[in-house]
Amino acid sequence: MANTVLKTFRVTRFDPAKHAKPVFQEFTLPCDPMERILTALNRIKWEQDGSLSYRRSCGHAICGSCGMTIQGASRLACRTLVKDIAGDVITVEPLKGFAVVKDLVVDMEHFYRNLRAVLPYFINESPKPVKEQRQSPREQEEIDDPAKCILCACCTSSCPSYWKNESYLGPAALVKAWRFVADTRDEAADRRLEAVNGANGVWRCHTIFNCLEACPKEIDIPAALSKLKRAAVFGGAR
Ligand code: SF4
Ligand code: F3S
Ligand code: FES
Repeated sequence: MANTVLKTFRVTRFDPAKHAKPVFQEFTLPCDPMERILTALNRIKWEQDGSLSYRRSCGHAICGSCGMTIQGASRLACRTLVKDIAGDVITVEPLKGFAVVKDLVVDMEHFYRNLRAVLPYFINESPKPVKEQRQSPREQEEIDDPAKCILCACCTSSCPSYWKNESYLGPAALVKAWRFVADTRDEAADRRLEAVNGANGVWRCHTIFNCLEACPKEIDIPAALSKLKRAAVFGGAR
């Protein structure tokens, strides 16, 4: 490879059968500055240690499965380039705030339980319209931003309120709640607002803003949560 730079990857290793707690292992390899961190991890796995475990699928910031802590921040490994990380050592750890299953793989059960609590799907039980369910451009614009979410958990794992209390629904679930509360075709806003108004709901967000920087889809999460708070107080998005 032309213009390669030698990088040392300091990667969390944890095998519950072998380790009492996570340890770091270092791997050194030549990298192209434009190479993605996920590609480097793949090369480590394929060429140096096949037992390294991490989640990935699409490789293109679509599936949301490769969220991890890279140089201290929650990011997608497939969207972070080697040149984005300063220094010769790149530290790769599991998502913060989640229990580790193995190496970089975390237990997502709480995350999905919190997501299920906000009914993260379209609900409309009225008779189907003869034609399409109409929506104005303005109404669509309201849900365009939160609808970009790929459920990577980077926001939730970067939120100090979640670190303190994993029962807090967290920004990802709350963004999903807002996506449907704001949808003029949906009919279950009341049920979602009841869920987000609870003790571990949207009021646990103390506008710390870590989530904004962490989101690989550049969703304005604090704005969505602020609108959700307003809807929780006034009983609806409209
Ligand atoms: Fe990931 Fe952004 Fe969705 Fe959070 S809001 S889960 S950071 S895509
Ligand atoms: Fe957490 Fe983001 Fe609120 S970091 S406290 S969810 S603004
Ligand atoms: Fe799909 Fe990174 S591998 S988002």
